[in-house]
Amino acid sequence: MKLVFVTNNQHKLHEIRQLIGEQIELCSLTDIGFTGEIPETHETIEENAREKAIYIYNRYHMDCFADDTGLEIESLDGRPGVYSSRYAGENVSYEDNMNRVLEEMKTMTNRRSRFRTAISLIIGGKEYLFQGEIKGEILTEKRGSSGFGYDPVFKPDGYNKTFAELPLEEKNRISHRGRAIAKLADFLKNQAGGF
Ligand code: IMP
Repeated sequence: MKLVFVTNNQHKLHEIRQLIGEQIELCSLTDIGFTGEIPETHETIEENAREKAIYIYNRYHMDCFADDTGLEIESLDGRPGVYSSRYAGENVSYEDNMNRVLEEMKTMTNRRSRFRTAISLIIGGKEYLFQGEIKGEILTEKRGSSGFGYDPVFKPDGYNKTFAELPLEEKNRISHRGRAIAKLADFLKNQAGGF
């Protein structure tokens, strides 16, 4: 089975290839020859995921899925949320975004937060939605060097390590995206005919 993952993020492709198994031929946007920008115009991760998947489905008529993730921090009223990738501005680095969060939370004692992922799958023209989340805390400084995004400042509940200090397989097993992808993979396995 061939499935387009609406992304060119190499970290995510690597993570998801590990999770989804080899029965599915996973293609990226580059693999299908798409080089443009896909709009993300909504206020929720669910709507943004749907928008991205529909955008590609309408152009290529290939089964596909798109994900959208937000880091929600309690003491920041749920920010950066849907703006997680551009919290410090347009075209900023992961470092810039983390620094802004650390700066805004400098005096805050409530460090509770969660990552939430929504995945929109379009298969045979029908749309399905999958969600995953992980709760944890924002540390006061960065720790670890693997992963991406806010990984060095996010410590999942029940662990003494940040996402950036955990082996990738461990992060995948418990992460927001890992959990949403596990639901997606289960769904695909249960489809008529399986993989
Ligand atoms: P996206 O919607 O998956 O592109 O995620 C939006 C932003 O959330 C990314 O630019 C990252 O900053 C952050 N993010 C998403 N997934 C992760 C993760 O697994 N670890 C850390 N940060 C993440």
